[in-house]
Amino acid sequence: MQILTVRLEMVLEQVRKACNKDVPGRVIDVGSDHGYIGVRCLEEGLADTVICTEIHKAPAQKSADALEEAGFGGRSEVYVTDGLKGVPLKEGDVVVIAGMGGLNIISILTRALKDNGYHVMENVTFVLQPQKSNEIVRNYLAKTGFVFEDESVCYDREIFYNCMRVVFKGICRTLTDEEACYGPVLLNRYNNGDKEVADYFAHLNSLFEVRQRSNPVIRSALEERKRNECQ
Ligand SMILES: C[S@@+](CC[C@H](N)C(=O)[O-])C[C@H]1O[C@@H](n2cnc3c(N)ncnc32)[C@H](O)[C@@H]1O
Repeated sequence: MQILTVRLEMVLEQVRKACNKDVPGRVIDVGSDHGYIGVRCLEEGLADTVICTEIHKAPAQKSADALEEAGFGGRSEVYVTDGLKGVPLKEGDVVVIAGMGGLNIISILTRALKDNGYHVMENVTFVLQPQKSNEIVRNYLAKTGFVFEDESVCYDREIFYNCMRVVFKGICRTLTDEEACYGPVLLNRYNNGDKEVADYFAHLNSLFEVRQRSNPVIRSALEERKRNECQ
């Protein structure tokens, strides 16, 4: 089995939750780099086909080699492209966008919404693991009509990471600053006594104490969090 980092295991766990193992479909890994997620999806029978996209040729070749070496050359395709450009989505697809900046993720999703009909988008699950700008990603998702199905956190080599599983439903809403910065799903888990999320929030609180000086959204989120914590 392809060995994954703790962060990628967290991403894969969200893919497992999204996939229908009885009828495996496509997993599309956007920004696949090494191609490890695709290999594991095929090894575990989570997907019948994997599509990798990469904006650069060298990592695309790495993905193609990894899939070929694992014996999955015939069940995978690798494209050098920007995001999902030229890869029409199909109902049942699971799309992974991991290890990228939040603004990059937003631009890939915006284009996917334009290129694919709403009906298709409503039947595609997105697993998103932004490296930064979580609050901007969550605000975008909520305002655009995505619904948060789940969010997980992990601690890998002294860094905290989070991963969201979202589906487009066309139901647009506005998040509070607290929800945008901490995550509606994670706030719910925190309020239910989740220890892993409590550790993550303690880390966010100290990070936000510094970032609030230059970011009014984070300042307001931190104030809201402190008020709610006292209640
Ligand atoms: C830090 S790596 C993360 C790789 C892997 N997804 C992971 O989580 O370990 C980000 C990868 O995304 C690729 N990338 C960045 N922007 C992209 C885009 N718009 N479309 C496709 N690939 C992109 C980069 O070339 C790079 O290989």
